Amino acid sequence: MSFFSPIHHSFAPHVDAGFFWRTLTWSLMRWRWRRGPETEKLRENLNERFHGSSFLFSSGREALLALFRSMNLKPGEEVIVQGYTCMVIPNAIHSAGGTPVYVDIDRDTLNLDCDEVEQRITSRTRAIMCQHTFGIPANITRLRSICDAHHILLIEDCAHIIPDAKGPIIGNLGDAVLLSFGRDKAISGISGGAIIMRQDELTAKLRAEEQNAAPVPIIKIVQWLNYPQAYFLARPFMGMKLGFVFLKLLRILHLLSPVLTDEEKEGTMSPVLHAMPNVCAALALAELNELQTINDHRRKLTMLYFEAIKQAHIDYPTAITTDLPLQKFPIFVKSAESLRSHLKKKNIHLDDGWTGCVVCPSSSNIESAGYVPGSDPDAENASTMILSLPTHALTSESDAKRLIREVIRHKM
Ligand SMILES: Cc1ncc(COP(=O)(O)O)c(C=O)c1O
Repeated sequence: MSFFSPIHHSFAPHVDAGFFWRTLTWSLMRWRWRRGPETEKLRENLNERFHGSSFLFSSGREALLALFRSMNLKPGEEVIVQGYTCMVIPNAIHSAGGTPVYVDIDRDTLNLDCDEVEQRITSRTRAIMCQHTFGIPANITRLRSICDAHHILLIEDCAHIIPDAKGPIIGNLGDAVLLSFGRDKAISGISGGAIIMRQDELTAKLRAEEQNAAPVPIIKIVQWLNYPQAYFLARPFMGMKLGFVFLKLLRILHLLSPVLTDEEKEGTMSPVLHAMPNVCAALALAELNELQTINDHRRKLTMLYFEAIKQAHIDYPTAITTDLPLQKFPIFVKSAESLRSHLKKKNIHLDDGWTGCVVCPSSSNIESAGYVPGSDPDAENASTMILSLPTHALTSESDAKRLIREVIRHKM
């Protein structure tokens, strides 16, 4: 059983049989890959859901770069970001000409420490990026009042969580909301991203950025559409390494594209923005229409993990509550790395790129990211102790029970 169904974070977590068949169908409709009605339907859905104007790009990082350009970020101007973030965030700031200023996290939320944010604001600060890490809500009310007091922009990064009718109440106080429809985010269009803007003067500039965006090359769309097919076929064979070999071969043959290129890990980002392909909009829209089901499953596993770790006295970010649809459930253990290695032998793959790094993944060049080692000790400490447990639709309740049993038995 465990041999055929790995427990994992990154083997195409959204790709169940429905997603697989949907993408197979879309593979045959090449004339609708770039343009079609689904793009506008997605935009309308997001406008209504987030009460703003949405602008769609081929990834979250591009949507963010479009936002910084629309703000006319000048050299030396600063954007506050948290330690424990993704390399693409500083890349977008640098690409627009700005400087990321890292602020340490609050260990209980894995989000910005608001007291430290206040201390780091200068006359050069243009924006604060608030990341609801793994779906744990940041202190958005406090950040809103800080931004109001200093007349700076609040960007809410909802890449890891899209709230539904049951909450949480986030995504409503930012001047702008960033969404990612990347392959392992809250919902997936395989790739894609959006900025929802609530400030009129920036809306016009963002519209111009979107209109000038280039189309995604067809070869790239082919690679994206190969991704669900490849992982769906490889996944049952991950336990005996055959799956890894198959995927590696596809990568060597350029039939798959990486989430982060080597250049991006080195700190560069192409200045060319791309329009979101219609096929990605269609896939994201299909998932958005099932958001309640997706989030309810995440809630169920959040609750299950929560009760088990409380009973076992395992340390965790204490802001987590049982009603959250977490993208993943982080816990703190002393030897996270060796526990992950141990679990791998049992076909449990918990490497998600968010371990042992303040600017993730750990293969990123932190110097290029502008992070000074030692400056965010809480983020550094948390990132070495974090072990995240999956909550996506492919993790069944019995998988989650098996996983937590293994973690409790072997936690060091
Ligand atoms: C918190 C967060 N925000 C934004 C992004 C950017 O998303 P994308 O991969 O669509 O560029 C990422 C990406 O990996 C992320 O982790």
